[in-house]
Amino acid sequence: MTTSVREIFDTMAYGPAPEGNAEVLAWLAGHEGRFGHWIDGGFTAPAAGFDTRNPATGATLAQVTQGSSDDLDRAVAAARRAQPKWGKLPGSARAKYLYALARLVQKHSRLLAVLETMDNGKPIREARDIDLPLVARHFYYHAGLAQLMDSELPGQEALGVCGAVIPWNFPLLMLAWKVAPALAAGNAVVLKPAEYTPLTALLFAELSREAGLPKGVLNIVTGDGDTGAALVAHPDVNKIAFTGSTSVGKKIREATAGTGKALTLELGGKSPYIVFDDADIDSAIEGLVDAIWFNQGQVCCAGSRLLVQEGIAERFHTKLKRRMDGLRIGDPLDKCIDVGAIVDPVQLATIQGLVGGCKDGEVYHAACAVPAGCYYPPTLITGLSAASPLMQEEIFGPVLVSMTFRTATEAVELANNTKYGLAATVWTENVNLALDIAPKIKAGVVWVNATNLFDAAAGFGGVRESGFGREGGWEGLLAYLKPARKAKALPPAKLVPAPVVPEVEGIDRTAKLYVGGKQARPDGGYSLPIWSAKSKLLGHVGLGNRKDIRNAVEAAHAAKGWGKATGHNKAQILYYIGENLSARADEFAKRLRDLTGKPGEAEVEASIQRLFTYAAWADKFDGAVKSVPLRGVALAMNEACGVIGAICPDEVPLLGLISVMAPAIAMGNTVVLVPSQVAPLAATDFYQVLDTSDLPGGVVNIVTGAHAELAKPLAGHRDVDAVWSFSSSPLSAMIEKEAAGNVKRTWVNHARARDWFGADGEGREFLRAATEVKTIWVPYGE
Ligand code: NAI
Repeated sequence: MTTSVREIFDTMAYGPAPEGNAEVLAWLAGHEGRFGHWIDGGFTAPAAGFDTRNPATGATLAQVTQGSSDDLDRAVAAARRAQPKWGKLPGSARAKYLYALARLVQKHSRLLAVLETMDNGKPIREARDIDLPLVARHFYYHAGLAQLMDSELPGQEALGVCGAVIPWNFPLLMLAWKVAPALAAGNAVVLKPAEYTPLTALLFAELSREAGLPKGVLNIVTGDGDTGAALVAHPDVNKIAFTGSTSVGKKIREATAGTGKALTLELGGKSPYIVFDDADIDSAIEGLVDAIWFNQGQVCCAGSRLLVQEGIAERFHTKLKRRMDGLRIGDPLDKCIDVGAIVDPVQLATIQGLVGGCKDGEVYHAACAVPAGCYYPPTLITGLSAASPLMQEEIFGPVLVSMTFRTATEAVELANNTKYGLAATVWTENVNLALDIAPKIKAGVVWVNATNLFDAAAGFGGVRESGFGREGGWEGLLAYLKPARKAKALPPAKLVPAPVVPEVEGIDRTAKLYVGGKQARPDGGYSLPIWSAKSKLLGHVGLGNRKDIRNAVEAAHAAKGWGKATGHNKAQILYYIGENLSARADEFAKRLRDLTGKPGEAEVEASIQRLFTYAAWADKFDGAVKSVPLRGVALAMNEACGVIGAICPDEVPLLGLISVMAPAIAMGNTVVLVPSQVAPLAATDFYQVLDTSDLPGGVVNIVTGAHAELAKPLAGHRDVDAVWSFSSSPLSAMIEKEAAGNVKRTWVNHARARDWFGADGEGREFLRAATEVKTIWVPYGE
């Protein structure tokens, strides 16, 4: 039967536009539908494992091998053998391989895109037009970083062997996000793809051979969560880079605690999508389609929480429902499909369970035809309260929840009313409003009048329980590098014991804690005598406890207005602190001599210089405008982390305290400092200097006491955003473990010494630890 043009116009029905998959089937057949791991430049023999299926049809695509600990041993050993030579190549030599990989990805992009669609269920339009171009771009960009890093990042070296564990929502793209920077930086990689979607990684492995990548530089071990856990636990891995759920991210934080492994976590989100009443509503609705129905909503940064201004809410929801009804859901290989298949029946059941359990909202399923099988209709849920589980929990499916707000302040409050902090979108025609809101939202990425913009040049990553670390840009590369220095072991510092015959002056000199700009008695009412190296009683310090830490954190929170002070203002105050310390230099030098038995002049002078250095940095640790392929700008802003808790070095009581305090407050953080536990009086003298330097109360809080006692509540506190430890007590493992609770950033010394007087004692390493990079995308044009 032939259809007339008139009939076509009358019905406007789409015909099928299937993408061919013969090449993919031929590739699978070429492997007899069975895959081993990719280790040391070749495939191992296929062994017992599991099927990977096409979620759109349920058909088995191939069988992959479940990685055992032996497999991982072999892969890690291959990576370890290959890494030294790879890491020693000039960056320009590694760049050649990355260029070759980029070109090969482009050359085979259709094969990769079709395979991705078949393994994952995403529409071919997305795999072809978004995932694959971004994968190629990532390798090109990182070829450039490799080319430039020797001159641009002197004094940095590769970490060694990196373990990468990736999810199923963007299988090849997540591989690119991990493998490209790791290889550019000179590391070797062992990657474990997600169990639902291992195939494009295995095809990529073959491309790496075609690119001539040296054997062992890239290894791929397939398997499930147990294989992932075994890779994380492997003793010969130097870094873990993970993308996936927050719950697994927390487990990985705990499992790596104290091992010295570097860690970056890119976890879940419940990202707000804020629409003001002056927004271009049609554009905002098109943006929303991309925000929540792209990849069936299985996107960590999905704009899954619509916040719409009250006055336009009804009109917006009505238009949105009409747009939802027009979405086409079905065969992902059909080029005209908007919404494809959910990755696996297990994930489908999760989505059904979460939406089915919705008690307080109104559920609207799009009135589009939904094929039988692993599909879920685009869904909107309105009428939820802010605390409703569906407003808080990541659904990871094509389900949008919506709430209204009245004022911009309320929009920000609602946006931040989540444990996550990955991304946010702001729609308004008022650019002043958008740029006022963007820095107030707790998220690593903000899109203004756009959504889901990604590029290799722009950092991507979260704050809070969305994880830490950035992927993309120079900041992403640095997560695969470390300063090239040999750090010596740090011996535990000891308190000077009470002498047999104490020399006591008879005057009570008990230094209190310093909380909220005031001296505070320790909650427990206990103090500790501090003896000079010559057995003279120098005074007592308060022994802080858990309650004192809580009070100090509260004071630090209350002082967060400090983050809004200009760099210039912060600089002035740091200069002033430096000047005031300088005026009392002799007194501090004597105190240090008494405390440590060594001349104190050099330490005081270094401390003053450090204050001046960070006064200088306060208005110079600039952000950047990233060169993204877009008419517009991607701003990389260095924002304060928030409240930083720091256990200060024991061995240089004044310089150590100032070396952690100054960069943190220069960048706008407020701090809770636990000073040297063997020589704390330098710190308690120092707060008198702070008192005379115009520093607002609560910006710096000082709690003296035993490191082992105070580090735990500090690291576990949910309102602390980052915790640092340079203690000589072995606390690193405990701190990293406690920090898993709210996935806070940690920076600990793993019992390694640092030269506080030298270049390692200050500079960009500290400034980076004191800041989060927020990427704000602002496209131009009408
Ligand atoms: P998942 O976090 O369990 O899996 C991600 C990767 O981690 C996979 O490769 C998996 O094999 C591996 N893995 C699992 N347990 C592990 C362990 N103990 N140690 C090391 N590696 C481990 O995510 P899953 O189960 O696939 O999805 C569950 C939920 O997670 C989703 O509904 C969604 O909410 C969230 N998710 C978030 C993603 C994101 O991009 N932020 C990506 C995938 C899932």
